[in-house]
Amino acid sequence: MSEEKVPHVVGINVLKQNGVDVEELKKLLIYNASVEFTAYYYFTNLRAHCTGLDGEGLKGIIEDARLEDLSHFESCLERIYQLGGKLPNDATEFIKMSGCEFLQLPANPTDHKAILEKCLKAEQGAIVNWDKICKMTIGKDPATYDIAKDILAEEIEHESWFLELIYGRPSGHMRRKYSGERPHTRKHSRALDMA
Ligand SMILES: [Fe+2]
Ligand SMILES: [Fe+2]
Repeated sequence: MSEEKVPHVVGINVLKQNGVDVEELKKLLIYNASVEFTAYYYFTNLRAHCTGLDGEGLKGIIEDARLEDLSHFESCLERIYQLGGKLPNDATEFIKMSGCEFLQLPANPTDHKAILEKCLKAEQGAIVNWDKICKMTIGKDPATYDIAKDILAEEIEHESWFLELIYGRPSGHMRRKYSGERPHTRKHSRALDMA
């Protein structure tokens, strides 16, 4: 493959004509991917520490949110490359840029309330992150907008689950039919499908 030729990418040119700041969009997508990936890791550990009889119900809810974060990471990858972006070569750099250290275990690692508060904070951060991309792309970049608004819909659901568990504020939700159902982002993360 020739390396001198810089290809003419119509899929990016039209975005520029539509007024999208493509560099900024790429930066935000890579940052959001790092947050989803790192949250997936930390939720794995938080879920494992929901011990005992009253932890049993929490495990299932954290598991649903955890597998959907993996779906969110998968959902935005292809778009990053289409826009000419790439993930950092160094995985530690990728984890660090997420700023997710607050998701480490609480002082008492099996303090369920503290675990739920961390989960809630992660979901609320994710809502802000994806809302930002929705605002940047609405009416200008339908391909990215479609992904961002579907991820946002799931993050809003996750927030409501943790609000219900902490404050008793009804979320109106029925449990997922199975963990990893990802009703809004499934079509963006087909790599996770078994069949
Ligand atoms: Fe997420
Ligand atoms: Fe989430």
